[in-house]
Parts: sequence; C-alpha cells; structure tokens
Amino acid sequence: MSEAVTRPATAGPGLLASLDPLLREWLPRQRWFAGKGRPVTGFSLVAATELLPAGGKLGLYHLLVQVHQPLTHGTGPGDCYQLLIGEREALPPRLAPALIGHVTEGPLTGRTVYEALYDPRPAGLLLEALRTRARIGGLRFERDPRQEVRSGLVPRAVTAEQSNSSVVYGDTFILKLLRRIVPGVNPDLELPLALAREGCPRVPAPTAWLLAELSGQSYVLGVLQPYIQGAADGWELALRELAKGQDFAAEARALGRATAEVHTALARALPTVTLGHIQLRSMVDGMLERLDAAAQAVPALRTYAPGLRSAFQALADLAAEGHTWTAQRVHGDLHLGQCLRSPAGGPSHAFGSGGEWSLIDFEGEPARPLAERRMPQPTVRDVAGMLRSFDYAAHSVRPSVPGWAESCRAAYCSGYAEIDGRDPRNDPVLLRAYETDKAVYEVVYEARHRPDWLPVPLSAVRRLASSHLT
Ligand SMILES: Nc1ncnc2c1ncn2[C@@H]1O[C@H](COP(=O)(O)OP(=O)(O)OP(=O)(O)O)[C@@H](O)[C@H]1O
Ligand SMILES: [Mg+2]
Repeated sequence: MSEAVTRPATAGPGLLASLDPLLREWLPRQRWFAGKGRPVTGFSLVAATELLPAGGKLGLYHLLVQVHQPLTHGTGPGDCYQLLIGEREALPPRLAPALIGHVTEGPLTGRTVYEALYDPRPAGLLLEALRTRARIGGLRFERDPRQEVRSGLVPRAVTAEQSNSSVVYGDTFILKLLRRIVPGVNPDLELPLALAREGCPRVPAPTAWLLAELSGQSYVLGVLQPYIQGAADGWELALRELAKGQDFAAEARALGRATAEVHTALARALPTVTLGHIQLRSMVDGMLERLDAAAQAVPALRTYAPGLRSAFQALADLAAEGHTWTAQRVHGDLHLGQCLRSPAGGPSHAFGSGGEWSLIDFEGEPARPLAERRMPQPTVRDVAGMLRSFDYAAHSVRPSVPGWAESCRAAYCSGYAEIDGRDPRNDPVLLRAYETDKAVYEVVYEARHRPDWLPVPLSAVRRLASSHLT
C-alpha cells in the first residue's frame, strides 16, 4: 500500500476511450449526478491519477471528469465529477452492485471497471493516504497533525441515498467524497475547520481532507471527520416521536441551542457584514423572481401569490425605512436531516432526554454557485429552514398530532434565544420572508418530483400568505 500511495500520476491518454461508452450509461443513473434529464454528449478528463497500476489484479484511477451536456441555461463548461474507478479482470460477486461495465474499447479492453469506493482495498488506500499525508500527482491528502488516524480501520461504504458518497472507517471516521467538484474554497470543509478553531463542539472537527491542485486552482475533494457512533438524525427522531404521538419540544429546544452555538461561533470566526438597503433590495428582488417563476410553473400557487408578495414587500419596506441586518456565514441548508444526535447517556451527554446534537453537511445548497453559498447571510435564514422542517415532519405522519409543529417551532426559537440572547421571532418580517422563499421553493420541488407531498408546502403557503407566523 505504501508503494501505491507514492506512485506518480500516469493515467494513460486513451483511458477515456475505454470509459466513455460505459460512463454514458452509468453516470446518469447515479443519485449524485446533477445533470439528469439532459443527454450526455461526451467527457473530458480534467485530471487522472493512477493510484494502482492498470492491468494487474486491481487497477485504480482517481478521475475528475467533465461531463458535456447541453445546458438548460447559459453557456460554459459542463459539471465536473470526482470518480474512483477500479479495474479488474472480473468482479467478485460481492462487488456486483458496483459494476460500471465491461470494457470493449481502448487500453482497458477486456477488463471490468467498477465504482471502487465500495471495495475495501481502494477505500482503505484513501484512508492510508490521508493518514500519511500523501501527495500523488495533483492530489494532496492533508491531515490535522493534532488528530491521529489509526492504520487498518475497516472501511464500509454508506449505501443511503446522498448527493455525495461516504465511507465509514471502523466506526471511527467518516469520509465524504464530494461528487460535483468546483474550484475554490468549499464551505463543507471551510466552516467545520473554522468552527473547530473556535472550539465549537457542535460540529465534528475535520480530521483530514483531500484537495487537488490543478493548473493553479485548488479543489476540495473530500473531508474525513470523526464518526458519531449510533447517531440518529433529527428527521428520523422527529418521525419516531410523531408516530408515538409524543411531542418533540425538548429536542427542538436543544436543537435551537445547538444552532445558536454554531452561529455565534461562526460570527466570531469569520467576517460579518451589514446588509443595507441595496443588498436587501436585491435579496427581495431574488425572492420575488423566484415566486413569479414558481407561480408560472405551479398553478395552485397563483391565488396565494399576492399574499406571498406582501411578505417580501414588507421586508423591502423595512429596508427602505433604513432598517439593516447583520449577515454572517451560516449553514445554508439547515433542516432536521442535517442534525445528528449522539445516543443518550454517551460520554458527552449534555442536555434533554437524549445525547448531544451535532450539525453536519455545510456545503449549502449544492445547486447554487459556490460564491453565492459562501456569502454572509442573516442567521434567520437557517432558522427558517428548521422551522419549515418541523412543519414537514408534522405533515408526514397520519394521524397528525395537533400542535406538534407549533410547539417545536416555539421551543426551537426559545432554545436559540437562550444562547444567542435574541429570539428569532423578534424578527418577524425577515423570518416570514425567508420561510416564504423556502416554502415557494418546496412547492416547485414537490410539484415536479413528489406531487403527493404538494399539500405540505401549500399549507405553509396559505399561512404565510395571510401573514401568521406560528
Ligand atoms: N460525523 C458523522 N457521524 C455519523 N454519521 C454521519 C456523520 N456525517 C455524516 N453522517 C451520515 O452520513 C449521511 C450523509 O452525510 P452528508 O449529509 O454530509 O452527505 P451529503 O452527501 O451532503 O448528503 P445530502 O444528500 O443529504 O446532502 C448523513 O445523513 C449521516 O447519516
Ligand atoms: Mg449535502
């Protein structure tokens, strides 16, 4: 293995000839492939690093591949994806689900290629490279020197649906390999590192990370963090309590406290700015545009559009009167599924009936450009995301539990105020605007992907259009 991690990048130039026809079939079927519904017309290699030489028992390539697709809007290069491709003479049955295909062209003709992250040896090789802070071609495996990584931890791929791909090592670490790669600082590494520097215990501190340096540009490819054993996510826990008809207010309050702890640490660690009239006006314009597009796309939204517009207009009016808000780095896509609770009674048992809450997945909304995801924003934006999430949970079980969402929403805001000193409900205009923007997004999403769920955001839309907040 040590031989493998020091081998230089020497991927053969004909590699794509071998992979192209197979990737055209395989890539669009992957959960994390963002370009679904548009034909793939070709590929170009952004980088190829040979981690194990081809033609032996197991060959291994780390690839950054640009996918050529007709764009739905604008022009520019297609999305770039990170792939870990293994090649063998034949796949053992245990790796059958990882099959990409049998190669019939180019230098790998006759070989079988597959998704190597699900194979313990390549996955183990990545951990070993992080542990030893290897440099292979343009790949830079970095590690926080204060955190030790034991060698030989057994990898297990996470099979749950996700927009990136994760491997758990010996129940000790979890490596998230980012799939859609963009150059620049990625908040999924940037924010947990900043929080770790502040000593914030609400986010697992990055232990190691994988970068690529290519043509003077830096790309974040993956992050290794301590694995919270036996953790359950907030969505799962909320549904469990709902199914029993139990309220979730104590947990919601703890979540409010956890969110505020993260926000206050981020405000200390990274710059804050004041949003004045111009910035707020352009924010409101964006919200109004999204509402107009949504009302075009979803007729059921149209009767509520004037009421929803008034939510945005109220914010513009406050801005015009000279009201300003502080903006800072935030999570950017906060909901119950991004909150993990360690088992009750664990070593760091802190509050409430369960263990401690951690927040994960700071990549923001992956569909938005990186620069936008890294912009300071009012913390109320995250709060609005969580408030919508309680509403979603409450609506996804039958029979419904009267008052469940309302009590969670109130408890969450109270918990937040206990740490921050300010209750988000004291900022009703901004909160309503953000909740409305989110609910409008949800309406479009559900209309497109899960029409059965459309009544959930529509009930929020009804409430928000008539300006009641709780
Ligand atoms: N530190 C951790 N400890 C335990 N489990 C974790 C940890 N980090 C992530 N997970 C698990 O892995 C899952 C995926 O992690 P994450 O949300 O960061 O990936 P993602 O690809 O961005 O997912 P999504 O598609 O939801 O955006 C989480 O839902 C959680 O179950
Ligand atoms: Mg994510």
